[in-house]
Amino acid sequence: MPSPYAFVYALHLLAALVWVGGMFFAWMILRPAAVSALDAPARLQLWAEVFRRFFVWVWVAVLVLPFTGVGMLHLHFGGFEHPPRYVQMMIGLYVAMLALFLRVQTLQLPELRRAIASQDWPAGGATLGRIRRVVGFNLLLGLLLVSVVAIRPSF
Ligand code: HEM
Repeated sequence: MPSPYAFVYALHLLAALVWVGGMFFAWMILRPAAVSALDAPARLQLWAEVFRRFFVWVWVAVLVLPFTGVGMLHLHFGGFEHPPRYVQMMIGLYVAMLALFLRVQTLQLPELRRAIASQDWPAGGATLGRIRRVVGFNLLLGLLLVSVVAIRPSF
């Protein structure tokens, strides 16, 4: 029988995997494949559908990560008193990643949907370009976060 800590830890890792791995797949694989296989209208509609589905899982990850992370802090690290430096960095990077995700979800995605509804493909393409940059930066933050946790710098 796994300990409660192991259970919470597994949930935390799975949530991180879904969020960061999903961004990696979208940026590194789906984006170039869509550019080479689809024209602009089809590509924009594909991305609107992809975001609609993927962001449900990002919301799950965004909620599961702090709950399980804080749970682990209480179970193993004596609460918020003296978390290790890499956990402090994890929390800081989480806040930055959350802010970028919320920007895409609340501002840029509605903009993309409006452009698609009015068949304004140039405006949709410009919005998609901005989303691509934000998601690319968020992917870098996610990869940095996982590297920081793995390396556990002691400064
Ligand atoms: C409020 C947000 C978060 C809190 C409070 C938190 C807290 C924690 C804690 C306490 C651990 C256990 C550390 C250990 O066993 O030494 C941990 C592990 C981990 N966290 Fe987070 N975390 C948060 C967000 C994130 C995010 C956003 C990601 C990635 C997207 C992430 C990825 C990981 C990974 C990969 C580990 C495993 C580290 C290892 O065992 O080597 N965490 N987290």
